[in-house]
Amino acid sequence: MRVTIFGTGYVGLVTGACLAEVGHQVMCMDVDQDKIDRLRQGIIPIYEPGLEPIVSHNYEAGRLSFTTDTQEAVEFGDLQFIAVGTPGDEDGRADLQYVLAVARSIGDHMNGYKVIIDKSTVPVGTADKVREAVSTQLKLRGLDTDFDVVSNPEFLKEGAAVDDFMKPDRIIVGTETDKPRDMLRELYYPFNRNHDRVLFMDVRSAELTKYAANAMLATKISFMNEIANLAERLGADIENVRRGIGSDPRIGYHFIYPGCGYGGSCFPKDVKALSRTATEYDYDSRLLNAVDAVNDAQKHVLFDKVSHYFKGDLEGRTVAVWGLAFKPNTDDMRESPSRVLMEKLWDAGATVQAFDPESMKETQHLYPNESRLTLCGTKEQALKGADCLVVCTEWKEFRSPDFDHIAGNLAHPLIFDGRNIYDSAILARHGLGYYAIGRGLNQFQEPPA
Ligand SMILES: NC(=O)c1ccc[n+]([C@@H]2O[C@H](COP(=O)([O-])OP(=O)(O)OC[C@H]3O[C@@H](n4cnc5c(N)ncnc54)[C@H](O)[C@@H]3O)[C@@H](O)[C@H]2O)c1
Repeated sequence: MRVTIFGTGYVGLVTGACLAEVGHQVMCMDVDQDKIDRLRQGIIPIYEPGLEPIVSHNYEAGRLSFTTDTQEAVEFGDLQFIAVGTPGDEDGRADLQYVLAVARSIGDHMNGYKVIIDKSTVPVGTADKVREAVSTQLKLRGLDTDFDVVSNPEFLKEGAAVDDFMKPDRIIVGTETDKPRDMLRELYYPFNRNHDRVLFMDVRSAELTKYAANAMLATKISFMNEIANLAERLGADIENVRRGIGSDPRIGYHFIYPGCGYGGSCFPKDVKALSRTATEYDYDSRLLNAVDAVNDAQKHVLFDKVSHYFKGDLEGRTVAVWGLAFKPNTDDMRESPSRVLMEKLWDAGATVQAFDPESMKETQHLYPNESRLTLCGTKEQALKGADCLVVCTEWKEFRSPDFDHIAGNLAHPLIFDGRNIYDSAILARHGLGYYAIGRGLNQFQEPPA
């Protein structure tokens, strides 16, 4: 099938590459000329495991192409995916300007029947707005060309995006008409070999499903962080509690890890946007607001622990930070808890020596002139001359480091662990003090003498 994808970011590029991989003809369009130039040279603008080889071999095979030319892109595909960003505005509302700009472009250049597919995460009712935007442009051209608008939200996870796309848990398609239903069934047929994963439903339910899924996951995290904060005060260990409740199949072990807060481009903005939608429909979503507030507060917990240890005197101290991305296996720094930590440390007069396996370039881009930030080439370099170590992201390479080396390099042999990846008893054997999230008795454990 012939497919056009607008937006060549985490979602658009993965969608395009994976659809080409199963044999479809795909054109990816982006307004970012530099991104498209780099993609044409085989340079992948984001870090996503497994993406590079499928982009390059499908590009070389001629199934995947890149363009900045809107007209060429609209004319190319019978299926037109909208996969551009939907960032939150200052009120938490999803900003639809990029989605609607694409819709207008499609209306401006449509040359026959098209199925327009909202893959971006968009509030309930957006399909109607897209339909209206396309119709308005068609009318201006004096045309009455037939088209359909479908909701097909994306559930891939950054860091496992290719796998998630190739083996989806489900494919949600919101449509109320037969033609797009048949076309999307054919498009996704290769992903259904094991069992039919496509769930057809009405458009509004599909739009809401995406927000409901992210809001549920965010709720699990904020719930665990709240219990962790309580565990800390009650002298309990959240890791025992986690295993204790996870063993109940009604609760399960997935996604109940406490930590220094959720980040990324989706959960924070989607929880806020759903709450905002609720308000617009005269419903006060107390639960979603609480999930968001608990998470905002959780991002300050690591700084508070460091500050508490040094009795509020951080002026002139150096803090080593391991992990900057909002989660492992991505270079994405959007809403990352590490940013709140670093910015608070700088405000308090400290300097930061940081290392992340993938997001150093992105961090440099975010803080180009920050003299109190040193980006180090290795995790060991980040320790040199530092007062203590803070772990913000649970990359695999941080899980079993040389603890003696850490203890030997820090002025205060202390690890503040924002992801609970260490065992305090092991650290104590290596002479390291340990402060984690919700780990009761270990909360203010001094480094062993
Ligand atoms: N990142 C994720 O893990 C994820 C997962 C599921 C859903 N989503 C949703 O998918 C959407 C895209 O997210 P993303 O992370 O891929 O965004 P992104 O910021 O990585 O990429 C968006 C791209 O769209 C391009 N763009 C902007 N306006 C354009 C236009 N008029 N025409 C063509 N391209 C245009 C930008 O240049 C950018 O390259 C968002 O709604 C997001 O909420 C994201």
